[in-house]
Amino acid sequence: MATTRLKSAGSGGYQAELDDAERASRDEILALQTKRLAWSLAHAYDNVAHYKKAFDRAGVHPADFRQISDLAKFPFTVKTDLRDNYPFNMFAVPREQLVRVHASSGTTGKPIVVGYTQADIDMWADVMARSIRAAGGRRGMIMHNAYGYGLFTGGLGAHYGAERLGCTVVPVSGGMTERQVQLINDFKPDIITVTPSYMLAISDEFKKQGLDPRKSSLKFGIFGAEPWTNAMRAEIETTFGLDATDIYGLSEVIGPGVAQECVETKDGLHIWEDHFYPEVIDPETGAVLPDGEKGELVFTSLTKEAFPIIRYRTRDLTRLLPGTARPGMRRMEKVTGRSDDMIILRGVNVFPTQIEEVLLATDWCGGHFIIELMREGRMDEMIVKAEARPESWDGSGLIVHAEKISSFIKNTIGITTGVQIVAPDTLERSAGKAKRVYDRRPKG
Ligand code: DLL
Repeated sequence: MATTRLKSAGSGGYQAELDDAERASRDEILALQTKRLAWSLAHAYDNVAHYKKAFDRAGVHPADFRQISDLAKFPFTVKTDLRDNYPFNMFAVPREQLVRVHASSGTTGKPIVVGYTQADIDMWADVMARSIRAAGGRRGMIMHNAYGYGLFTGGLGAHYGAERLGCTVVPVSGGMTERQVQLINDFKPDIITVTPSYMLAISDEFKKQGLDPRKSSLKFGIFGAEPWTNAMRAEIETTFGLDATDIYGLSEVIGPGVAQECVETKDGLHIWEDHFYPEVIDPETGAVLPDGEKGELVFTSLTKEAFPIIRYRTRDLTRLLPGTARPGMRRMEKVTGRSDDMIILRGVNVFPTQIEEVLLATDWCGGHFIIELMREGRMDEMIVKAEARPESWDGSGLIVHAEKISSFIKNTIGITTGVQIVAPDTLERSAGKAKRVYDRRPKG
């Protein structure tokens, strides 16, 4: 991926500002992790009934942990474990010591509740500040924060990190797209934090108001909370003339700021391994895979007090790679999807990001799309509804474009799909995570 440095001149010379862990060697990080893993396993076992029961059932004790490879003896934690302990039973400190809770929305059933002590909030602000700096942000810059504020970790997580770095935060939250554009024009922020899909909606609004997004003050965009492709990165960078990097995180582990791409390399996300220990496992067998192999990402927290999390199965699919811009800490490849987002169409596995990549390779589609699953008789059918860019929409040639895309999908992904090109501004916009897949098959 070519690195574009479009408006970011003058952001070098920051090596001296890096945290110690960002400058540490691999051996130093491994030694720190070994010490911290021993603490975190004992902390979880001693203070959370669920972990005591799960470790006892698996016949392991925190004292069995002597080196990092011993972690594989400990049981995984899955989403239902957290749900079964709703709302407060996974906490390792008395409720009075929590300074905040967040909850993940969860489309079915009860949400997952996570909690933080003051030390946890401080650690989160530190890793988030580190992430913003890795993305190109510096003390004194203005940051427009369009991640949602509330129970979702995106808004407040990015907010505290920006304050910690010394930025001026504009806490806009998501939604009210016209106002987003007005504030960007008037306050002239350097950085924007937002989901990539909502960034496209902001870009459309700029154009609707007759404004050129490339003339905006934005230099750095920190995009995450949902899967997005390098094709989408190119789209956003070209539209706004900014450097776009990927940020990853999940509520169960801390929120945003578990891993962040460095602007100088844009080659996957460095995991802040001094606080979060990653493993990649075979989702079928649970076996730990060697670095470089693709599988399900698993995290263990190393320093969290209120909500220690041991070997949490994220369902996110990726692989671990050696560190580059921060040599002591490994990278994770961009997450292309979650195992629960995977569509299995007549036996072929498809992720929405694969469709995104194909659509953005055309010049008429700007990245707004949905996927509908239907059933015709006994056969499952998939229909991609893709919105045309306003500048390439004249209502003609739609069938030809659609057929081209359909055969491109057939040739690259190997599935037969219907494709419908729809008029600009007709698909529903989300102010946060985009909903890509609509399953309209009869239930049962
Ligand atoms: O989405 C935290 C976050 C906020 C991350 C803002 C980045 C920016 P949850 O709502 O708990 O937390 O959702 C976590 O979102 O397991 C992934 O499936 C997905 N996800 C998060 N970041 C990325 C990313 C926040 N950069 C779930 N690429 C995770 C792909 C992502 N998927």
